Amino acid sequence: TQRTLILLKPDAVQRRLVGEITARFERKGLRLAGLKLVQVSRELAEKHYAVHKGKPFYESLLTFLTSGPTVALVWEGREAVAVCRTLMGMTDGAKSPPGTIRGDFALSVQNNLVHGSDSLENAAIEIALWFKDEELVNFAATDANWVA
Ligand code: GTP
Ligand code: MG
Repeated sequence: TQRTLILLKPDAVQRRLVGEITARFERKGLRLAGLKLVQVSRELAEKHYAVHKGKPFYESLLTFLTSGPTVALVWEGREAVAVCRTLMGMTDGAKSPPGTIRGDFALSVQNNLVHGSDSLENAAIEIALWFKDEELVNFAATDANWVA
């Protein structure tokens, strides 16, 4: 079983899509291990998107991520990293197929509603960046035998 970090970026909150998007991860069978609403600081945004430093869209991306509240979630389950990326769709909303979060609700490359860790290694790093240990919860899902 894996854990992964998902962010519902400021456009998701502003567009009132938090429930809609969260429901998709929930219904897939993933278990919620962490959840909070964050006003992201420039410092946290820089750490989170450090790999993109130097790219032409870097400054714009930081401005976007700090422009309003973001919901941070940790989802847990079988192949959680890849499963979440599949549910999200591709980076560019315009190129994402219908049925995916970005395919259904995003048209932009930058304002694409969600972030998801892209590897198990980065998931561990990102979860530690966004959550304290005591903010993460472990519980036995009562439907575990039916889901995974
Ligand atoms: P994340 O889950 O947010 O990391 O998205 P991703 O892995 O699908 O994309 P990537 O890591 O390559 O880029 C990080 C974020 O930067 C994207 O989600 C977009 O919000 C933004 N971004 C990526 N490419 C561009 C671009 O060409 N222009 C602009 N303005 N933003 C971009
Ligand atoms: Mg990425």
